[in-house]
Amino acid sequence: MKQLIDSYNRKHTYLRISVTDRCNLRCNYCMPHGGIQLKKRSEMLTFDEIEQLSRLFASMGINKIRLTGGEPLVRKDLPELVQRLANIPGIRTLGMTTNGVLLKSFAHQLKQARLTNLNISLDTLRPSRFEMISGKQHFNDVIDGIYAALDAGIQLLKLNVVVMGGINDDELLDFVEFVQDKPINIRFIEYMPFKFNQWNHAKFVSFRRMMETISEKYKLEPVQSTDEHYVAKDYWISGLLGKISFITSISDHFCGTCNRIRLTADGSIKSCLFHSAEINLRSALRNGTPDDVISEMIQSAITAKPFGHPAAEELAQIENRSMIQIGG
Ligand code: GTP
Ligand code: 5AD
Ligand code: SF4
Repeated sequence: MKQLIDSYNRKHTYLRISVTDRCNLRCNYCMPHGGIQLKKRSEMLTFDEIEQLSRLFASMGINKIRLTGGEPLVRKDLPELVQRLANIPGIRTLGMTTNGVLLKSFAHQLKQARLTNLNISLDTLRPSRFEMISGKQHFNDVIDGIYAALDAGIQLLKLNVVVMGGINDDELLDFVEFVQDKPINIRFIEYMPFKFNQWNHAKFVSFRRMMETISEKYKLEPVQSTDEHYVAKDYWISGLLGKISFITSISDHFCGTCNRIRLTADGSIKSCLFHSAEINLRSALRNGTPDDVISEMIQSAITAKPFGHPAAEELAQIENRSMIQIGG
């Protein structure tokens, strides 16, 4: 079957599947101010449909799947889906990005279901700030979730910290200390603008500023990535078990080596995080359309993929799904 190659000769091997638009937090950089119109249950792909599409994607060269949301763990029986996807020939890496609130109950099941990579979002180590950012008092649940994931022995654990000026940018060193004795990769992420996500210049903290802050106390040694599609710049600090990375979507984007394609919870193919065009596969799937026709629909989304995204000011204005409906 054909490989997923776009007009800029980028080969797509990484599929991000959003399994729900629901979430148990209300992070102000992700959930738009006025809330979102939730999709009806009948509009959501079933596990059978997600598995069927994932098999088709695997036959087209996808070897890595990441489950996202909303919050993926609010979808009922999620470990069952993980197990089904882990059984697909060709899928070598199976990840999930979670806010960690429900992780304590699920970490061991996810490991058993053969999840390999788990990214946990946590923007502050202070309970009162956690509530301010996310609207909920679940700080201790997330911390318990992180320890449960460590205990379960999931192969690769990352902590995603969206760095926001005047909100949590005074905690970079605290986060570094948090992974002093833990095999966790902390990723400090530049705050990306989306319409209605409260982004502004004052809240934007660049990679360079983050580096300066951490370098006041620690010597950061660059680590060469072994992944040709890496999005994070990796560093090592002597005496630290964890690894420190930066995701620089705004100050130094990584679109040139992009290998990502997205499937939304309601069955649309989204070729780029910041591109609003979508091709919905749900009706085709439900009408029994043959695989080769569905794969042509997927290919046409890839062909229309733009090279990259516009500058920050424009991103804050463009019509797009909100982050909570895309899953990052
Ligand atoms: P791995 O590389 O598999 O560890 O995960 P990831 O970094 O692809 O996924 P994760 O869901 O943990 O996202 C980390 C950050 O990268 C979030 O801020 C995402 O919004 C952002 N991100 C994910 N994919 C893209 C992308 O295609 N483009 C841009 N600009 N940002 C992305
Ligand atoms: N900018 C950067 N990262 C974001 N995320 C959500 N919204 C934004 C944003 N505006 C992150 C979440 C999660 C991942 C899926 O995307 O914190 O870790
Ligand atoms: Fe790929 Fe679009 Fe993300 Fe750039 S912004 S890395 S092209 S998905």
